[in-house]
Amino acid sequence: MQLNDAHVFITGGSRGIGEAMARRFAAGGARVSLAARSAEALGAVAADLDGWSFPTDLFDDTAVDGLIERVEAEAGPIDVLVNNAGLETSTWFHQVDPATIRNLNRLNLEVPMLLTRQVLPGMLARGRGHLVYTSSLAGASSFPGLAAYCGTKAGLTNFASTVRAELRDHPVGVTIVAPGPVDTQMWDTIEEESDMAPVLERLRKLQLIPTAKPEKIAKRTVAAVEKDRRHVRSPRRLSTTFWLNESPRRLIEGILSGVPLGAAVTEPTDTTT
Ligand SMILES: NC(=O)c1ccc[n+]([C@@H]2O[C@H](COP(=O)([O-])OP(=O)(O)OC[C@H]3O[C@@H](n4cnc5c(N)ncnc54)[C@H](OP(=O)(O)O)[C@@H]3O)[C@@H](O)[C@H]2O)c1
Repeated sequence: MQLNDAHVFITGGSRGIGEAMARRFAAGGARVSLAARSAEALGAVAADLDGWSFPTDLFDDTAVDGLIERVEAEAGPIDVLVNNAGLETSTWFHQVDPATIRNLNRLNLEVPMLLTRQVLPGMLARGRGHLVYTSSLAGASSFPGLAAYCGTKAGLTNFASTVRAELRDHPVGVTIVAPGPVDTQMWDTIEEESDMAPVLERLRKLQLIPTAKPEKIAKRTVAAVEKDRRHVRSPRRLSTTFWLNESPRRLIEGILSGVPLGAAVTEPTDTTT
């Protein structure tokens, strides 16, 4: 997608990977709209980029219902939706609080589905769009201590891959961003407060968990949207893990390659949410 003057809406744009993505998209000539709860931090990033800020608690149904409509009414049709807001828990699963399980499913999986449902009819009608999902290396592997998180990110990766398969015959692209550790508040919390110490120690010894800078993930994401690439994966030294995880999807994609899906996706063009 040509980014100059494209409108990019990013959830979780107040800090970390989302903020880095916002800055990188804006540097590429895009107009950015951002959502997160911290109104002040969000407003500061948006103001810096001449963008729009939509302070939103994505746990709240009433805030999510109609969110895309509100953003488009104020800032224009969305060309790129970046589903980036996310939450981690790094406690052994038998000790995780049930409210946290609900929140993780809500933010990491349900909200990206709901926002995709809201934005896609417009993108299909306009014949232009790109969907980005910030998943994780944890969506392709099982890390003890991250069971709930791994479950939601595996769901998100497979959801996004399936949407991409449905959109095969349409000019709407899908990119799945799957980083390992990234130097943000989320990773600080995992390192400082989690039950994962033995796992992290082992990965460190094997030199398997280099921590990426959010700016690097953002740079690769923007390039992937521009070039319509399917994946941004990090660290590259774990690429075998990603490929083994991806192979069943590629197999089914190959098997279904002769099935026409175009009409099935565009009819009916119901925009209700
Ligand atoms: N850091 C890593 O190591 C890593 C690795 C792989 C994947 N990821 C994924 O990358 C994405 C971004 O994470 P990050 O590392 O940048 O984490 P972060 O620094 O903690 O940022 C999370 C973002 O999500 C927003 N958010 C959280 N709860 C929200 C809610 N209820 N409603 C609206 N916005 C909410 C936060 O803003 P407010 O708190 O202001 O609402 C913030 O902007 C996540 O999906 C994460 O799972 C991170």
